[in-house]
Amino acid sequence: MIKNIKFSSTELNVKFINNFEDNYPIIWLRDHAKDEISWDDRSSQRKIFTAGLDESLHIKKTSIVENGKYLDILWSDLERPTRYSYEFLFGNSLNKENKNRNIKTWKNNDTTKDVYIDYDITTSKEGFKKFLQKLYNWGFCVITNCKTEMKSVETIANKIGYVRQSIFGGLWSFQSDENMADSAYTQEELRPHTDSTYSNDAPGLQLLLCCEYNAKGGESIMVDGFKIAETIKKENKEIYEILSNIEVPGNYIGDGVFLEARRPIFKMNSDNELIQVSFNNYDRADFRLKNDLMIKFYEAIKRFDLIANSKDFQWRHILKPGELLIFNNWRILHGRGEFKGIRKMSGCYINKEDFDSVCKLNKIY
Ligand SMILES: [Fe+2]
Repeated sequence: MIKNIKFSSTELNVKFINNFEDNYPIIWLRDHAKDEISWDDRSSQRKIFTAGLDESLHIKKTSIVENGKYLDILWSDLERPTRYSYEFLFGNSLNKENKNRNIKTWKNNDTTKDVYIDYDITTSKEGFKKFLQKLYNWGFCVITNCKTEMKSVETIANKIGYVRQSIFGGLWSFQSDENMADSAYTQEELRPHTDSTYSNDAPGLQLLLCCEYNAKGGESIMVDGFKIAETIKKENKEIYEILSNIEVPGNYIGDGVFLEARRPIFKMNSDNELIQVSFNNYDRADFRLKNDLMIKFYEAIKRFDLIANSKDFQWRHILKPGELLIFNNWRILHGRGEFKGIRKMSGCYINKEDFDSVCKLNKIY
């Protein structure tokens, strides 16, 4: 709730009941006005021509409304007061604790049965929300008792967003195939990696449904990339900096395409928060740094990859027919143990922004 306000010609000072305090620039408040002249409620789009605001713009009057739930501001260029909610002001405060998105990073020992959910549960609104919450918290989730057909993948994908088209098509189905160019089709152990380091917009989610399993081995491996980052940050700042700053190129050459992209293994946003982990030793493209930095880079990826391949950090599980593994490809590294026999899988990718969208709509974060 809003406790107190005062304003000058350039700023509005707001004191909140929980003792937070912030100064909001006048131009920012006017630009964020949600009255009918400045804002289109139906499209959630700004109508105001921000660049055209008068330089003499100022606050004429303010009042706290409904015991601090709202703040009304009468602007010099508007006839009626504009209302700002406590949630809006507090949510945009620079002084509050850093946005904690409540992600709990994990090692193998931390994982529980909570990573599973029955398909039937996900069909209700509440159940679907529960599923999203698990997927968001752990970075992955297994949906059990799905029908062992490609259609199940599509149905689940369409509830979240939509199937992404890529060089592998939209929905895919595969079993070990030595004729394909990609390492994913072999029966050898597939070490933990993220997909599409060669894409500027790597898929946000990957879905993998086990349709048939008549084999030995072939566990699915999940590793929390955010936990690796946390671990390295604690143990060696220099390695952390290298992994956060050196842009590593990845490429995909074959099947009629030549794709290439580059980004740091730990990608940060402008607030220095980790937003994406990308690591794929298979797809790393040729690149060269100055010799001393190059050597440090190899030390850094050695540490990263040894952690990723340590059983302490790995959740391992043999997917049974009807189990669909879904994971956040911007956070979780995936792999697969060596196997002998037949293992048929179906799957697809979903864009990161569509995963974010469904999480926001369901108030997951
Ligand atoms: Fe992969």
